[in-house]
Parts: sequence; structure tokens; C-alpha cells
Amino acid sequence: MEKHFAVIGHPIEHTLSPKMHKAGYEALGIDAEYQRFHVEPNHLAQAVAGLCALGFSGWNVTLPHKEKIISCLDILTPEARRAGAVNTVKILEGQRIGHNTDGDGFVRSVEKELNGFKRKKAVLLGAGGASKGIALALAEQGMQIHILNRTPEKAKILMELIKQWGGTATSGDFAPGAWIEDVDLLVQTTSVGLQGEPFPFSVQGIPDRALVVDIIFNPRETAFLQEAKKQGCRTLNGLGMLLYQGALAWEFWLGGQAPVEVMRQALEDQLNADVYK
Ligand SMILES: NC(=O)c1ccc[n+]([C@@H]2O[C@H](COP(=O)([O-])OP(=O)(O)OC[C@H]3O[C@@H](n4cnc5c(N)ncnc54)[C@H](OP(=O)(O)O)[C@@H]3O)[C@@H](O)[C@H]2O)c1
Repeated sequence: MEKHFAVIGHPIEHTLSPKMHKAGYEALGIDAEYQRFHVEPNHLAQAVAGLCALGFSGWNVTLPHKEKIISCLDILTPEARRAGAVNTVKILEGQRIGHNTDGDGFVRSVEKELNGFKRKKAVLLGAGGASKGIALALAEQGMQIHILNRTPEKAKILMELIKQWGGTATSGDFAPGAWIEDVDLLVQTTSVGLQGEPFPFSVQGIPDRALVVDIIFNPRETAFLQEAKKQGCRTLNGLGMLLYQGALAWEFWLGGQAPVEVMRQALEDQLNADVYK
């Protein structure tokens, strides 16, 4: 029987998820459909009830619903509890299970390049929703986390949350500093660079062994990543995070292993299409 999946958000028209998931179904001969639905914040509860009534097996959740949807669900996985947010819902025997694959998706996207997490140092620029998921997942892998944010209070709140979950964390000013000298993984999680604008400060002095990630994927290479490359660092954009959060959602819904390379190609094809340039 055909299974139905979806992504809900506001806005939603630029989502890359339907084509990524559908390419995967096609490659493995899975009888499933993946749609996108625009859901206004004040219609979230009705939308969840509607998806259940229509027999959807699961759906992804994107901005601005990731936190608010929790009150519409029956069970949260440890990953969703840790993040305080849900990006994946599964319906199992009538129960609405909320899960989160954003943080672990990021972990998967860097694990080959980083070659081990324990006791290594990650510096996160930004303390918004994306940073929170990534920071908690990296802390769980045993990394020491340092957070810098334009609004320092938010960096402190995230630092305290990481400690509450048993991790090691510090926070500091959103500026260059001694932190740069021993960083293993530098992650740019702010929205600076989405419009092609320069990053407010330089990463000069970063060791060239560091892996530098900007979770923005469009543009493919922000000014921040270009500078890190000039410093001799390995760099990654946010496409891997998007890919692996999708692959982990797939595996949560369908079991088995998601066809990651097919899904990656579907993302690349969409970003190469004129509409995203
Ligand atoms: N690759 C992926 O799969 C993926 C997934 C999720 C998000 N993202 C990307 O990640 C970025 C952040 O998303 P989010 O959901 O975390 O957003 P968010 O919760 O709104 O957080 C935004 C963050 O950016 C900072 N910021 C915004 N403008 C800034 C500026 N001019 N200078 C310095 N800092 C600034 C904010 O600092 P303040 O606290 O000081 O305001 C905050 O830390 C977006 O570009 C989004 O596209 C990528």
C-alpha cells in the first residue's frame, strides 16, 4: 500500500525535501509519496489532525513549527527532548511520535572529515535554533563546545543547557579571540551570508587542521567559507546537514538505509536549477 509523507512549514515553497525523498523512493522501488504543505502557525493543530485523519505515515516539520508542534504529539524521542524541537513525526499504531534528526544529521555530515569527536573542540558561531540542535548533538559525542553569539545572553542560555545535558561548554564574545587557536571544528550557524554579505570578523589564525562548516547551502560557498579556505582549512557547506537530517528521517520512518547518494544528487540537481541561482 502506498505510504504518504510530507513536510509542513511557513513558508514552504522553496523546500528541497520532496524531490530528495522521492528520488530515494524511486531508486529503491518504494511505493510512497512525499508532498509539501503550507501551514499557517494558527492552523498547526488542525493540520496535524488532518494529516493523521488522511493516513499519513509521517512528516517533516520546518520553521516556524518545530517547537509548537510538541503540544500536538503523544511521545517524544530522546533526540526531540534534547533539542526541545521536532523536525520529524511518525505515526505508529495511532501514536504521534516526535523526533529530531537535525543535530545528528549534522554529526553524520561531518564525521568522516572530523575523524572522531571525543575531547575535540567545536566553536559555534550563533545560538539560534539550528545552533542549539547541533551543539547538543556534538556535546553528546563528547566534544567541548564554545559558543559565540551576537546577543551574548542567548549564548549563555545555550551553554547552560549543554551543561544540564551533561556536556562541556563555554561561551564568549561574538568576535575573534584566543578560541581560534585550538579549534578542531568551527561551525557558522548564523544567517549572515544568506544574501551574499561578508561575515563580520575574520578567522585569521585558525589552525589549518580545522574543519570549517557553514550550514548555509545557498549560496554554496559563503564569504565566510571562502576565507576559511584561504586559511588552508577543509570546508563544508550546509548541504550535508540537510541531506543527513533527511536520511535519518527516512530511516526513522521506513527502516533500513536511506540511499544517501541518490538523495544527495537530487539536492544538487535542484540547487543547479535556475530557480535557486
Ligand atoms: N543546512 C541545514 O540543513 C540548515 C538547517 C537549519 C538552518 N539552516 C540555516 O541556519 C541559519 C540559522 O537558522 P536558525 O533556524 O538557527 O535561525 P534563528 O533561530 O533565527 O537564529 C539566527 C542566528 O543568527 C544570528 N544572526 C542573525 N543575524 C545576524 C547578524 N547580522 N550578525 C550576527 N548574528 C546574526 C542570531 O543572533 P542573535 O541571537 O543575536 O539574533 C542567531 O544566533 C539560517 O541561515 C538557515 O538557513 C540550515
